[in-house]
Amino acid sequence: MIKKLMKSDLSQMLKIWNQHHKILTTPRTRHTKKSLTEWYQNPGKEKYGFFGLFETNKLQAFMVVKYKNDKTLWIKQLACDKKEYRKGHGTALVKYAIKQAKKMPIFSEVMVHNFEALNFFFKQNFTIVKYNERLQEFTLRYVPNSKL
Ligand SMILES: CC(C)(COP(=O)(O)OP(=O)(O)OC[C@H]1O[C@@H](n2cnc3c(N)ncnc32)[C@H](O)[C@@H]1OP(=O)(O)O)[C@@H](O)C(=O)NCCC(=O)NCCS
Repeated sequence: MIKKLMKSDLSQMLKIWNQHHKILTTPRTRHTKKSLTEWYQNPGKEKYGFFGLFETNKLQAFMVVKYKNDKTLWIKQLACDKKEYRKGHGTALVKYAIKQAKKMPIFSEVMVHNFEALNFFFKQNFTIVKYNERLQEFTLRYVPNSKL
């Protein structure tokens, strides 16, 4: 079941975040309960959505999306518990984001060496549209029905 993350879910989110903190943001931030709560409560100027995929109340994967100017949707952070890889949780969250976007263009950013995530996004019909040399990051765009 996918639903909005509540403040009470942040302890579970923290565990998954810190499994992947080196690849989830450019500053490679490792969160504490305090810093994650502060970010959740005040993620930035734009509208954000925090979503979690739960199985019997256990958070298995999460996704943070940004609705930029209400015109494009950005999958900013997406991560699955390492023990729960390759069970389709990441795919389910991306499909949920596609529904949330209601036909808005959808983008994400992935570090160039993160081959696993690149392969994952290619499988979800995302394609590379930009390379940021300074950040060593690709911008990906969802292209419905593209087959790579
Ligand atoms: C990327 C990530 C979210 C994928 O989650 P997941 O639930 O394991 O993915 P799925 O089970 O939905 O995988 C769907 C397909 O993506 C591809 N894929 C997923 N993980 C892969 C990997 N490690 N290596 C190669 N391909 C992979 C496969 O084609 C897979 O289909 P298959 O299992 O039938 O072969 C997960 O690996 C993760 O949390 N990575 C660390 C964080 C990260 O890199 N996030 C993305 C940048 S923000």
